[in-house]
Amino acid sequence: MDVSFLGTRLCNCISYSRGNEIGLHGPRPRCGRRAITLLTTSEESQELSHNAASIPASGCACCGRRGALGALAGALSASFNVKSSAYASSGSHDPKLLVESVRGKRPGWYEEFFAEVMETGMQSYEMQVEDRKLQLFSSLDDKALKVLELGVGTGPNLKYYANRPDLHVIGVDPNQHMEKYARAAASAAGLQDSQFNFVHAVGEALPLEATSVDAVVCTLVLCSVKDVAVTLKEVKRVLRPGGSFLFIEHVAAPAGSSLRIWQDLLNPVQMFVADGCHLNRHTLDDIEDASFALVEAQNIIIPNLSLIGPHVIGMAQV
Ligand SMILES: C[S@@+](CC[C@H](N)C(=O)[O-])C[C@H]1O[C@@H](n2cnc3c(N)ncnc32)[C@H](O)[C@@H]1O
Repeated sequence: MDVSFLGTRLCNCISYSRGNEIGLHGPRPRCGRRAITLLTTSEESQELSHNAASIPASGCACCGRRGALGALAGALSASFNVKSSAYASSGSHDPKLLVESVRGKRPGWYEEFFAEVMETGMQSYEMQVEDRKLQLFSSLDDKALKVLELGVGTGPNLKYYANRPDLHVIGVDPNQHMEKYARAAASAAGLQDSQFNFVHAVGEALPLEATSVDAVVCTLVLCSVKDVAVTLKEVKRVLRPGGSFLFIEHVAAPAGSSLRIWQDLLNPVQMFVADGCHLNRHTLDDIEDASFALVEAQNIIIPNLSLIGPHVIGMAQV
C-alpha cells in the first residue's frame, strides 16, 4: 500500500534489516479456537482451517444524499436497497459528515496526494501478490453477483472481476479522490459503467441493506479503518447467509521480533504519512473474534516489503 510504499522507503532509509527472525507465529490463542498459520521468511505457508460458531450479524447502516452523491445513493438504492437508517437516526443526510465523524477530517490535498501515491506506487506490490490474489478471487463462486470492495482505493482488484458480465461491484471508500482511478480501473478491466458504483462511505457504517451482498473483499484496508471490530460487524451484516469475506492485509510481526519493534516504533509516523494505516494490527485475531462461521487464512511474508511484509490472507464466511 501507500503505507507500504512510504513505510518501506522510510524503513529502508533507516537501514532496517530483516532476517530469519521474522518467522511468523500464529496469532496468540484467544478463545480456544485457532484459524491459522505459521509462516517463515518465504512464501511457504501452512494452512489450518477452522470453524467457529456464528453469531447474528448486527450493526448500523447509513446513507445520505447531496448533489451527485445523492444521485449515486439513489441509483444504488434502487439496485442494492441502500439503507439510510443510520443517517436518518443521526439526523444527518450528508455522507461527507458521516465519513468525517468516523475517521476525522482530512485536508483535500492530503487525500488527493494519497490517492495519487496509491495509483502510481503500488505496481510492484500488485505484481508480487498477483498469484495470491488470483487464487483468492478464484474462490468467488459464480453465485457471487454483488461484491462489495471495502476501501476500494484506486481499484487494483477490479481486474479480477473481468469476464463476469453478471457481476456488480460496489466500491466503498472515504477518499473521494480514489473514484477517478477506480473508475478507470473498472473500465480497463472491461467492466461496464453499470457494473461499478463508487460510494463515499466508511466500513464502520456501510450504506447498504443487511444481507444485500454476496461477497465482501478487503485488501490493505483493515490496517486503516478507525474501528476494526465495528467494520467487521458491518461486513457480517451486509453479507448474505453463506456469503464470503475475502481479505489480504498486512499485519503485526510476531511480538519480540526486531521487525515488530520497528513496526511499533514507526507506527505513529506510518499513520501520519499513510492515511491512518497501522503497521502493527492483529487483524487475524480481530477477524476470528468477529465470530464468522468459518475462517480460513494463512500468515505469509511478502518478500522485500520490510515493515509491511507480514500479511494475512484468507476467507471467512457468515
Ligand atoms: C492502502 S489503501 C488500499 C486500497 C485498495 N483496497 C488496495 O488494495 O490497493 C486503504 C484504503 O482504505 C480506505 N479507507 C481508509 N479508512 C477507511 C474506512 N474507515 N472504511 C473504508 N475504507 C477506508 C482508504 O481511503 C484507502 O483507499
